[in-house]
This record gives sequence, C-alpha cells and structure tokens, in this order.
Amino acid sequence: MPVQVVVGAQWGDEGKGKTVDSLASKERMMVVRYNGGGNAGHTIHDDYGQKHVVRLLPCGILHHGKTNIVGPYMVCDPDVIVAELKIAKSDVFLDHRAAIVLPMHKLLDGAREASCGDGAIGTTKRGIGPCYEDLVARRAVRLGHLRSEDDLKAVLTKGRYYQERLSTLRFHKAKAPSLDQTIAWLMSFRDALYPLVRDTVEMVHEAVRRDQHVLFEGAQGIEIDVNFGEQPYQTSSPCGAGGVAMSFGVFNFKRVIGVAKAYGTRVGGGELPTAMSTKEDKRLREAGSEVGATTGRNRRCAWLDLPRLKRACDVGGVTELVINKLDVLGKTFPEFRVCVGHAPEEYVSIAGWKQEISSIPMRERLPTGARILLDLVESQTGRPVVGIGTGPRRQDVIWKRD
Ligand code: IMP
Repeated sequence: MPVQVVVGAQWGDEGKGKTVDSLASKERMMVVRYNGGGNAGHTIHDDYGQKHVVRLLPCGILHHGKTNIVGPYMVCDPDVIVAELKIAKSDVFLDHRAAIVLPMHKLLDGAREASCGDGAIGTTKRGIGPCYEDLVARRAVRLGHLRSEDDLKAVLTKGRYYQERLSTLRFHKAKAPSLDQTIAWLMSFRDALYPLVRDTVEMVHEAVRRDQHVLFEGAQGIEIDVNFGEQPYQTSSPCGAGGVAMSFGVFNFKRVIGVAKAYGTRVGGGELPTAMSTKEDKRLREAGSEVGATTGRNRRCAWLDLPRLKRACDVGGVTELVINKLDVLGKTFPEFRVCVGHAPEEYVSIAGWKQEISSIPMRERLPTGARILLDLVESQTGRPVVGIGTGPRRQDVIWKRD
C-alpha cells in the first residue's frame, strides 16, 4: 500500500518541506497535513530558485495535480489558509473537524508566555496551545461550524465557553474581541473556506482503498511531541507517525521517513544536551541560516545527537532517514563532532571538507567525512539513510534507489 509518512526526527526545522516537495513531485498523490497549524514553516526552493514558506497547507500546493488535505486534528488560522490558498497550484480540502484558532487563542498564548517571564516556553505565539486545549475539551470552533452564524454562536456560547475564556484573558489583563466581533470575524471567512470543507478521513480512506499514493506531512518534530517531548517545552500535537494513526485511523505505512539535519537546532526553551559553544553556534547559524522561518528567532545549534535520534526513530515509528544540510556542516568546520553516547558523554570527531557537494550524484562519491557520518547514523540508529540533502535547491538530494 503506497502510504508514506514524513516526520521531523529532531526539534522541527529539519527540512521536511523539501523532502515532501521532492516526493510529491514524483507522483500524482494526495498530500496530507495531520498535526499542528500555523506554527510550522516548511521552506521550499522551487525550480527557479524562489523561496516559499508554507505554514499550514501541505507542501503539495506548490505542485499541479495534487490533492492537498488539512486533517481533522489540526488547528487552523483562517488568515493563513486564505493567504496560502492564493499560491496553491492544486486542490485543497479542509477537514470539517479541524479547529479554528481564534484571535483570543493568540492573545492567551502571548499573555501566558509574558506571565512566565524567564521561564517562558518560547512558543510561536500563534495560539496553538490554547486552541488544542479547547479541542480536547470538546468545545473548539471547528471548520464545519462555518456553515452558519447559528452554528458558530451555538458552539461559542455552549457552557458559556467564550465568556469563560474572556474572564481568563481579563485575569491576564489582556483585552479580547467580544463574542459578536468574533462571530463576525469568523463569518468573514465563510465564503472562502466553507466550500472546501469535507470529511477528509473518508477521502483518505477512499484513496488508500484505491491504492492511490498518499503522503502524510508531519509538522514540528518528535523531540517536541506533546507526549514524547519534555514538558513544558513541547508543542501540543502528536508529531510522529502515531499522529497519523490517531487522526486518520490509518495504520499501515509503506515507510515512515524521519527527517533530520546533520546537526541539531532548537528554537524556544528546553534542554539541548549537545549544544555547541557560542562561537561554533554563531558560525553554524550564519552558514546554515538557522533562523526560524515562522518567528524569525535564532535557532540554537547542537552537534548531531545519535542516541536521541535513535529514540526519536523508535517512538516516532521511523523506518528510514533523510539527513539534510550535510553540505553546511562539512563546509563550516574543519572538524565536526557527533554524539554517540550519553552517560558517559561520548563524541566522535570527523573531518570536514571544502568542496561543494551539491552536484555529487552518489553517496559513494561524497567526501570521506560525509560517508563516515552517514555510516555512523545508520549503525547507531539501525535505520537506513535513504536521502541526503546536499544543498538548498529541489534537486540537491541524493536519493537511494529502490
Ligand atoms: P507552539 O507550538 O507555538 O505552542 O510552541 C511550542 C514549542 O514548539 C516552542 O518551543 C516552539 O518554538 C516549538 N515549535 C513549534 N512549531 C515549531 C516548528 O515548526 N519548528 C520548530 N519549533 C517549533
């Protein structure tokens, strides 16, 4: 069954967008986002070298002839959907169950972060956490509620939901739009979004039954998964292949591709055991443009942590790996490090290289240091490396032939 899943195997920002884009360009397929919302930032460089950042819709929108799906366990910022629909080259459908991020969710996210001071999570402030709270509390406004003003009013007033949220915002001294303003704001998206609303779970199962290619596109990374990440420095959704099973009821995958970089990066708070020194961090951040695509924040840089990567593969259901930005790591340091053990902390040092590797067509022809690193990834994680990112362009990937 041709169902594939692409997941982030680190802290997000691993280059999933490029992997999805590359796989989607090969076949007619259904491309499905299943978690998160506008907190993601999937970057793609098209054939003309133009850079696109897609936050909420699947990366398949940048290709003709795809069916793109926003899944039921996503939290949707309607402004972002409308903006991304303008650049979509193929069909988009939105699940009727997906929750809508309201302006009050963003205000709440910001207010809570502010009240944490130095202990803030470092969220994207896109209202993701508060909206997921309402989703699991069974009271969120869903895309299906855009059907009518009455539906919107009913869900927002049930159990005095909106009033309760307003009182929390008052507690934080934040001013939020009134109920009527929120309903009017929601209704302003009705004509653009409601015609795209479907039961996408049914659509996906139908595609699977017909043996159509289905590609699930994960957002964020397993290290910040709502379950496997470290509280509170996590996002609010399931990031691994388990997220596909829980939101779509699809369990059989041909493969689950874990995407990682040849080093680690993290935005927001939380531990980073293999963090680089300030000097090394700065060098790599500049060489690899390690600045958040959604928030513009600097990403903290770390040496590749193989025990952590193995654990992410285990809990995220990863069957094979793509290793990105190998070119950046090798060019930046005459010698770089890879962590192969914790307690005791153990690193392997590997020689970098000066040559450009983006036009090298085969793994066997990569510089020695690159091959040593890839062999180490495979032996330590027990997963084959099937894709190697050697540059930013669409074609800068060495895919292992099937
Ligand atoms: P939230 O998802 O906005 O609630 O943020 C929670 C944590 O997840 C913060 O540390 C964010 O920086 C991080 N995060 C959320 N989305 C992404 C992403 O797409 N890439 C990397 N980090 C992310």
